[in-house]
Amino acid sequence: MIVKLGGSLITNKSKPFSLRKKVIKNAISEIIESKKKIIIVHGGGSFGHPIAKKYNINSGIDPTIPNQIFGLAKTHSVMTELNKYIIDELIKRQISAISIQPSSIFFNVPQKGIIFNFEPIKLSLELGMIPILYGDIMLSSRSNFSILSGDTIILKICEKTEDFNISKVVFTMETDGLYIKNQDTDEIELAHEINYHQIDAIQLANLGGKIDITGGIRIKLNNIKEIMKLGIPIQLINGLRENNIYSALNNKSVKGTYFQPPKS
Ligand code: IPE
Repeated sequence: MIVKLGGSLITNKSKPFSLRKKVIKNAISEIIESKKKIIIVHGGGSFGHPIAKKYNINSGIDPTIPNQIFGLAKTHSVMTELNKYIIDELIKRQISAISIQPSSIFFNVPQKGIIFNFEPIKLSLELGMIPILYGDIMLSSRSNFSILSGDTIILKICEKTEDFNISKVVFTMETDGLYIKNQDTDEIELAHEINYHQIDAIQLANLGGKIDITGGIRIKLNNIKEIMKLGIPIQLINGLRENNIYSALNNKSVKGTYFQPPKS
């Protein structure tokens, strides 16, 4: 299984570089307690996003932006800081977690798209370790770059079906799941279950304007759709509610949004 620790869950998105330590500790405890074979991916929240935004990293090279290449280095650097906190929390508990630096194994080749060396993830899992990846910068050929979101990392790992055989992806967030507008009543409500054919017709509720340079919920939904196409179910759950992560990883019922892949 893959668990994404959303950036807005593990950091306070309205205050740069602020960790939600209690939330992180609790999420890690529940992941460990689940005793499942897990890959953890975490987002950027108030670490990666503000710096990436300041230097417009996601749009690629732009000579009109002063010190943009330094901004690229800085974006990566703050992400490693956030990652180090999470790794240390696992190491403190005698868990063999290993940080795998996405910007060292993923790169973008125009025409070919994203290519990556998945061996470090696979080999660390084989040793019984917990690989931990994160949203990062991604270098491209022809002297360019962009942001690699945690969600894209997850999709790329899921696509390697013969190497990873992912059984479920759990996205932890700071809300209960996806809020949509009921077409009959116009009321905003939590979507409990969404199947592949419903996904394009979903009317999203307005979720407010936090900084998210990797595209927000619409892009997340496109990504989810691609994962569903691979036959993998996805669950969005609230990581602020105790036991949710443990229950989701153990396939117990959890309030949230469940995406049912198409029947093959
Ligand atoms: C973004 O990763 C990483 C950077 C901005 C460097 P994500 O897009 O996965 O982060 P969250 O979960 O939305 O914060």
